[in-house]
Amino acid sequence: MNRPANDTFLRALLRQPTEYTPIWLMRQAGRYLPEYCATRARAGSFLRLCKSPSLCCEAALQPLARFPLDAAIVFSDILTLPDAMGLGLFFSENEGPRFERPLREEGAIRALAVPDPHDRLRYVMDAVAETRRSLAGSVPLIGFSGSPFTLACYMVEGGGGEFWHFKKMIYDRPDLAHRILSVNAQAVTRYLNAQIESGVEAVMLFDSWGGCLTEAAYREFSLAYLQRIVAGLAREKDGQRIPSIVFARGGGLWLERIAACGCDALGLDWTIDVGAARRRVGERVALQGNLDPAVLLASPEAIVRETRALLDAFGPADTGHVFNLGHGVSRLTPPEHVGVLVEAVHDYSRRLRGKNRARCGKA
Ligand code: CP3
Repeated sequence: MNRPANDTFLRALLRQPTEYTPIWLMRQAGRYLPEYCATRARAGSFLRLCKSPSLCCEAALQPLARFPLDAAIVFSDILTLPDAMGLGLFFSENEGPRFERPLREEGAIRALAVPDPHDRLRYVMDAVAETRRSLAGSVPLIGFSGSPFTLACYMVEGGGGEFWHFKKMIYDRPDLAHRILSVNAQAVTRYLNAQIESGVEAVMLFDSWGGCLTEAAYREFSLAYLQRIVAGLAREKDGQRIPSIVFARGGGLWLERIAACGCDALGLDWTIDVGAARRRVGERVALQGNLDPAVLLASPEAIVRETRALLDAFGPADTGHVFNLGHGVSRLTPPEHVGVLVEAVHDYSRRLRGKNRARCGKA
């Protein structure tokens, strides 16, 4: 299959010149869209939606039908992988994700095994293939997984929360913590490579909880495993480079280290200034982010103002930035505000490139 007609997102990740700053949003398919709520109602539950490839494809395409976004993301969840490892995922209404069998016993941890993604996660591979086909070469498709650490937090806790159980384990039984992380790292590598085989054109690792660790623990229990995964990913498919993005929520203090893990791009939360981040990581990686999702709840004027400020803060450059939020779209977001954001990013970044060229005497 060929490169998508709009490959701005892929070029920005690889730090090749683009005419404007590409944008997509974490959780761009989700509860702020009434059509998503209708699809989920038809599926019966969020998990049944995740397990239906055609409904996943429908959900993934919904935001693209409304807004000229520069990438699509596979509709799924990071917790389908531990579900495939036998933990029994379920979502209780308004309580978020839960596992029937959290990993608390040494025996269960020793028995944890890497699932075959083509078997236990066939439904994800089918969703990837169907979504890629339906995109018909328009924009690239992003595949994703949770990081070994973030997955372990949920697996040991048995759901969301402050993850005391896994944090206790890293101090009390680092051997067991490393056992889980090492199986997770192999599982994630196989899972992402299977997604690449099935048609995703970039991959993203969500390390949503690594930021709750000390610096030393972050290096040992999160970053070391991210590094292993990135080193084990397929670099190319059909002659096309497959860029990788690491989303390091709460990782602002350790940007240089994360940027050196081998990934092509670093996803930032909103607590760090994107210009300062750029100065710190230099030309090593592209940056993705990092508008505060709360801005999308504010007025269109505020959205345009904050968007321009962020593009100005990134500074003059015709590549290396993928616009995104610092975390997922809130379900309280009015859909039309996303349209205002996408237009502001496209329009203002084109203008900045024009100014830039004029300043360099190339206009
Ligand atoms: O559009 C997209 O970004 C793709 C789909 C996607 C979902 N989850 C769908 C989803 C992605 C990339 C994720 C990642 C994910 N899932 C993460 C990492 C990113 C982050 O948010 O930090 C995590 C930690 C999860 C686990 C998870 N899934 C939680 C904690 C919850 C409950 C919180 C909530 O928002 O309800 C989910 C549910 C979930 N995943 C929903 C969606 C659209 C909402 C489910 C619903 O429809 O009720």
